[in-house]
Amino acid sequence: MVRVAIIGASGYTGAESIEILLRHSQAKLTYLSALPEECGVVSDMFGRFKGRCEMIVEPLDLEKLADVADVALCCLPHKVSMSFVPKMLDAGLKVIDFSADYRIKDVAVYEKFYQKHTDTGNLAKAVYGLPELFRDKIKGAKLVANPGCFPTGLILAIAPLLKEGLIENDVIDNAVTGISGAGKNPSVKFHFPNMNENIFAYGIGTHRHMPEMEQIAADVAGKPVMILFQPHAGPFDLGILSTVYCKPKGKVTNEQLVKLYKDFYAGEPFVQVCAGSPNVKDVAGTNYCHVFPTVVKGTVVCFSAIDNLIKGASGQAIQNMNIIFGLDETLGLS
Ligand SMILES: NC(=O)c1ccc[n+]([C@@H]2O[C@H](COP(=O)([O-])OP(=O)(O)OC[C@H]3O[C@@H](n4cnc5c(N)ncnc54)[C@H](OP(=O)(O)O)[C@@H]3O)[C@@H](O)[C@H]2O)c1
Repeated sequence: MVRVAIIGASGYTGAESIEILLRHSQAKLTYLSALPEECGVVSDMFGRFKGRCEMIVEPLDLEKLADVADVALCCLPHKVSMSFVPKMLDAGLKVIDFSADYRIKDVAVYEKFYQKHTDTGNLAKAVYGLPELFRDKIKGAKLVANPGCFPTGLILAIAPLLKEGLIENDVIDNAVTGISGAGKNPSVKFHFPNMNENIFAYGIGTHRHMPEMEQIAADVAGKPVMILFQPHAGPFDLGILSTVYCKPKGKVTNEQLVKLYKDFYAGEPFVQVCAGSPNVKDVAGTNYCHVFPTVVKGTVVCFSAIDNLIKGASGQAIQNMNIIFGLDETLGLS
């Protein structure tokens, strides 16, 4: 039985991780931690756990953590994460980090979009946790950088085209996310009165997921890829729908695309190639990514839908945990 700690258990991805682990047959929640002022019984924080999980969320005690857990799911914001992760690694735990702190390999790029990096030693060793592309590296990892939610949607939408070198190196990603993508503390923009019956673009030209997308797309394609990413926020709780526009290098047909995608994702437990445009309601509450590629006026348009909190965060983290510990990858998730 793998013993699992959740750090940042009072947040959205922390709660979703608890939910998945409660139905995991070979992993056991042993420790929940949050800021001192947030601590208490987890079912008092999240009513959905009443009668299902009455564990105490406690302030972080590293000695205790090392005694009771094999792996920590670190569900903290960026910057805060890299102040805790080195201590958990030094204490002998494996760590799956949900923040951006260990995703972007180029320190100068990270520092341009976030802030000064204070743990570059571990950054160099971290493995990017997108199982469909980096499963072999994840197997032996001590530190996994769990991907961002938008990058997960984008990369899974176009990975077969990138890998086979079938598209030009400039890509446009238009995506819309549900409001849980912003975490549990709403800003004025993401607060209910502005979100309700509304949809808007944000982070125009500046969104922090853009450099992560370009890094991973380049890893997959073996050459630089320019990504113009435009996020939108919509009035729903869960999900990301990505619409990605790519210029093919030669003529490509719908039949070729479907065959390429079905071959590429054959055997992948959580990627489904659909016969039409996917939608977020079909994947909400699941670890699935639905993809659909098609040709429109000579442009390849690829769609993907994921649940931002599950395939975009907690589900993917537990998929990574299963791989690290040699378990069936689908445990807790199917
Ligand atoms: N939401 C998504 O769809 C999504 C998807 C992919 C990745 N992520 C990433 O996952 C991480 C968690 O996101 P979330 O949506 O769960 O955020 P959230 O709902 O705001 O929860 C963040 C958690 O971190 C805790 N925290 C904040 N500042 C802290 C500090 N200085 N010291 C200790 N704990 C602190 C919070 O405690 P309090 O309860 O006291 O606030 C809370 O438990 C972030 O790095 C985010 O970028 C989120």
